[in-house]
Amino acid sequence: MMNQMFFVGLPYLALFLLVAGSILRYVWNPFSYSALSSQFLEKNALLWGTLSWHIGILIILLGHLPAFLVPELWKSLTSNFVFLLTVETVGVMASILCIAGLIILIVRRVVSGKLQQVTTVIDILLLVLILLQVVIGLSMALMHRWGAVWSTGTTTPYLWSILTFRPDISYIEEMPLLVQAHIVMAWIILMLVPFSRLVHIFSFPFQYFFRPPQKVVWVSERRKEHDDSLVVVQESRRDFVKGALGLSVAGALLSVGVLDKLAGFFYKPEVSVEEESKLLEQKLKRLEQTAEERTYQLERMKKEFIYVSRLNQLDIEKGKYFIDYLMRPALAFLGKDGLPILISAKCTHLGCTVGSELDNQGRILCPCHVSYFNINTGMPNQGAPALDPLPHLGWVIMNANNEIILEQDPSGKRYGNVNVSSIDKSNRVFIAKKHKE
Ligand code: HEM
Ligand code: FES
Repeated sequence: MMNQMFFVGLPYLALFLLVAGSILRYVWNPFSYSALSSQFLEKNALLWGTLSWHIGILIILLGHLPAFLVPELWKSLTSNFVFLLTVETVGVMASILCIAGLIILIVRRVVSGKLQQVTTVIDILLLVLILLQVVIGLSMALMHRWGAVWSTGTTTPYLWSILTFRPDISYIEEMPLLVQAHIVMAWIILMLVPFSRLVHIFSFPFQYFFRPPQKVVWVSERRKEHDDSLVVVQESRRDFVKGALGLSVAGALLSVGVLDKLAGFFYKPEVSVEEESKLLEQKLKRLEQTAEERTYQLERMKKEFIYVSRLNQLDIEKGKYFIDYLMRPALAFLGKDGLPILISAKCTHLGCTVGSELDNQGRILCPCHVSYFNINTGMPNQGAPALDPLPHLGWVIMNANNEIILEQDPSGKRYGNVNVSSIDKSNRVFIAKKHKE
């Protein structure tokens, strides 16, 4: 329910407010369609702040586009490690530039008395939200590495599903909280655009192409008499035209992509009654499945022990999957010492289920973005997208009389005084509620 609200309801509300709010503002108050320059009031901090902010945010937002517009091409480009590393490094540098610029802009607005007169609460709120969004984006890029690759199969199809009015949140439902926060924050920022000075991004100044060059200066009668440079200022428009052309090409690419998907939505084949009832049946089945899962989860929560396997059914090279107390997948192996190794099978990168077979270096593979985890230490290989180890689970071994003969907690500490070689291999291995995180 919460997911539907944040990832379906919020986006459509944001898009509606963005479009309707921007149009209404233009109709009611066209002169407010501007960034409302404050250069006259303070320009030293503005120069550094606005330069870092605009360079940083332009690189970041342009960097978001290829994964969204040409995901297949982007995926194949980023499969080259040098390219991927370059893209990610540029992203991190642009984020830092952006953060520095935003901090200067926020401090400038808060500190300067003159600026406070022309600053609204929403201006400050938006600056802070964008700062937060950039910090979340940067943390995400650092903690869930190689977003340039994984975004093509997750956030990209989710965004297209929203824009083509066929919302599908399954792509992002299971993603880490940081990624979900980044998406929610993006919708909130979008929603506030029409009510803030950010609306100036829509006021593309076409008249600049045609009108004579102008430079705005403070003029007083006294200054006019002493300063000849105020008479005519001739400046080249070449740089502006170049920048504008770049932006137009990016804008055109974006509109082609969006129009193509929208056309796909409106000209899709009609759904027959049979097809519709089949869809409903599938939906019902999914709901029943969810209800069953929840019941199963509740039952598990009540149990002190959950059965994993008999000791003699565990293998050194091939793990046996089981579900832990929190319904997450886990794997049980037999260690070289003849005792169980229980390890989470939920990848610490983005949550895929890792494979169950050991490679020749004693590691299991997460196939989603290729992270190898050593099952003894849980550690991922160097350079893997995953940074954190897979956690181990505690276990207990019970004999036929349901007595615990040996036990190990998740940190590896053993309880029980029994010679391993004397343990009956038909004894059963369990996970225990007391070891649950
Ligand atoms: C207000 C709009 C947004 C801003 C300001 C923003 C900002 C950022 C920043 C600063 C980064 C870190 C870049 C890096 O260090 O590589 C980032 C990464 C990312 N953002 Fe956004 N973002 C926005 C909207 C979105 C949206 C709508 C999505 C998709 C639904 C998205 C998906 C991603 C992904 C997948 C990454 C990871 C990229 C990587 O690791 O290379 N962002 N974002
Ligand atoms: S989910 Fe990305 S490597 Fe496992």
